[in-house]
Amino acid sequence: MSAPTAELQMEKVVDFINVNRDRYIEELKEYLAIPSISALPQHAADVRRCAEWTATEMRRIGMQNVRLEETPGNPVVYAEWLDAAGAPTILFYGHYDVQPVDPVNLWTSPPFEATIRDGEIYARGSADDKGQVFMHFKAVEAHMREHGGLPVNMKFLIEGEEEVGSANLDNFIRAHKDLLKANVVVISDSPMFDRGIPSICYGLRGLTYFQIDLRGTKSDLHSGSFGGAVANPAMVLAQVLAQMKDKGGRVKIPNFYDDVVPLKDEERQEFAKLPFKEKKYKQDLGAPKLYGESRYTTLERIWARPTFEVNGLLAGFTGEGAKTVIPAVAMAKVSMRLVPNQDPEKIGDLFEAYVKKVTPKTVELKVTRMHGGKPWMTAFDNPYVQAAGRAIEQGFGQRPVFNREGGSIPVVATFQEELGLPCVLFGVGLPDENAHAPDEKLDIGNFHNGIIASAYLYKEIGGLA
Ligand code: BES
Ligand code: MN
Ligand code: MN
Repeated sequence: MSAPTAELQMEKVVDFINVNRDRYIEELKEYLAIPSISALPQHAADVRRCAEWTATEMRRIGMQNVRLEETPGNPVVYAEWLDAAGAPTILFYGHYDVQPVDPVNLWTSPPFEATIRDGEIYARGSADDKGQVFMHFKAVEAHMREHGGLPVNMKFLIEGEEEVGSANLDNFIRAHKDLLKANVVVISDSPMFDRGIPSICYGLRGLTYFQIDLRGTKSDLHSGSFGGAVANPAMVLAQVLAQMKDKGGRVKIPNFYDDVVPLKDEERQEFAKLPFKEKKYKQDLGAPKLYGESRYTTLERIWARPTFEVNGLLAGFTGEGAKTVIPAVAMAKVSMRLVPNQDPEKIGDLFEAYVKKVTPKTVELKVTRMHGGKPWMTAFDNPYVQAAGRAIEQGFGQRPVFNREGGSIPVVATFQEELGLPCVLFGVGLPDENAHAPDEKLDIGNFHNGIIASAYLYKEIGGLA
């Protein structure tokens, strides 16, 4: 295809996208209305309905061999279009499951009735990840409708368990290596650097997640009759957790930092050049003061340093008024974000050994390992990342910056290790999108530009024969 023809073809695709702008929002609202919460068993039927909706939509836009692939958990939705002879193949990954919505009273509008306010579409899943998945469906549709095909081969793999740790996906990938053969993975499941600053993400943190249960006595006790005679598990839990980090924000688990790849001066300089406004960041978060590992900047702390966090605590009497009691049990959910080359299994072992060591014999300790995922980082001089950069420029009228992110997408490392595929993280969310929180939202302008950028991405990658 000669260059001028390709230009003309893209013009038609972009026209189609511009003309259909309002229809896209109405369709997306339907997708967002399905409460596909993977963490809650009472939503199992909704999760399946959402997988089916995803498949129906993919058939409608012209994808082929669309099907639900069963796993021991929620189904994976697969689709392909492989008629671009000689062109590379994109494996697009996303997830149709969403996070729970509690506390639901803090939502301005109901989480599953998508509502538009000030150019943003508010709903659970709008940014993470249905809105960003849907953006690609619309980019595919535009190519199909204008030209009866795509400029690149494409496979879609949309899963329903990302928000609960993708427990069954690694096995699915290992069992379907041929089906998933491709040249590059594309994912839109992350925020851009900032409003008006599109970005391409070249690194994610990993994760290892635990529950700690402490038991002091058979049952709760009168704190007057027994206080002072036995250990209080709530207090012990606080003491145990207090030993996880020092005052300078450094994790105290022995050997925790052994495999951490130190930040290079060059990379630190690149981070420092990014238009990050520390004061505004602090204000937006409503934090009295920022805090993190000493001798590192905020971006370094989030993107390139590991951390230990308490995700939840439960113990004793928390109702109104006062109750004099020694709780029998105390529980904490904790997790560690990891950076290259920390291994979640190995760090998990170090953590377990340390918790056992610092917990006194006055309580019974139970440690439960939950989900995890490996950190990921890629060089961004590869041709796919460069192609994504050009696509972003076409969609957003601006060159992207390169950033890392603090969040985790466990399957990215699997794509790399099992299929040998590079990954392009092409996210159009925003740092204040409220993912996992009340009032999750997606900027409609970014959604629209994202559709155009995705359409260009297929053309750009298609040209990399
Ligand atoms: N979309 C996020 C991942 C993400 C968040 C990437 C922020 C970049 C920046 C994804 O849906 C997510 O929430 N992942 C979980 C993984 C966990 C459940 C294993 C996370 O990061 O907590
Ligand atoms: Mn996500
Ligand atoms: Mn998420």
